[in-house]
Amino acid sequence: MAVRPVLRMGDPRLLQVARPVADFPSPELDALVADLHDTMAAENGAGLAAPQIGVGLRVVVFGYTASPRYPEAPPVPPTVLVNPEIQVVGDATESGWEGCLSVPGMRGLVTRPARIRYRGHTPRGELVEREAEGFHARVVQHECDHLDGILYPRRVRGLRLFGFTEPLVAAGLIPGPAPCDD
Ligand code: NI
Repeated sequence: MAVRPVLRMGDPRLLQVARPVADFPSPELDALVADLHDTMAAENGAGLAAPQIGVGLRVVVFGYTASPRYPEAPPVPPTVLVNPEIQVVGDATESGWEGCLSVPGMRGLVTRPARIRYRGHTPRGELVEREAEGFHARVVQHECDHLDGILYPRRVRGLRLFGFTEPLVAAGLIPGPAPCDD
């Protein structure tokens, strides 16, 4: 149980494809999840993936009941997913500004599928299966991208849509101090 340093863009570990968790429940997985939660809470993140703390396993945590950073965003159920999978539902896409604890102080406009179905397991081995849209769908996709070594700037269409949070807020391009550094 500890707040761990979050790796920043440029660290090659963030570019690796993470391995599935083979055997769980396990004390090791419980310890990893506790560290992810502690670190996410300390950084006010909306989500965090194991590779961001240097662990190459397919585990993500996300969700909050009220985010100080995203006061406007609807709540996302606090969730731990082991070996998550995402399926896109329909053709609709949505653009939204994203941030990432591994890319501190910046935001980029990312277009993603608007609606998804996702599944995975809790650390106890129970199946989680949900449909999500809007911000919820965005957070899950952002976190699962980390498991494939993808940081959101790779999904930004052109550097004109990528910048430092402060001037973006000052210019009115994004609302308030963005909450969701995930
Ligand atoms: Ni991130």
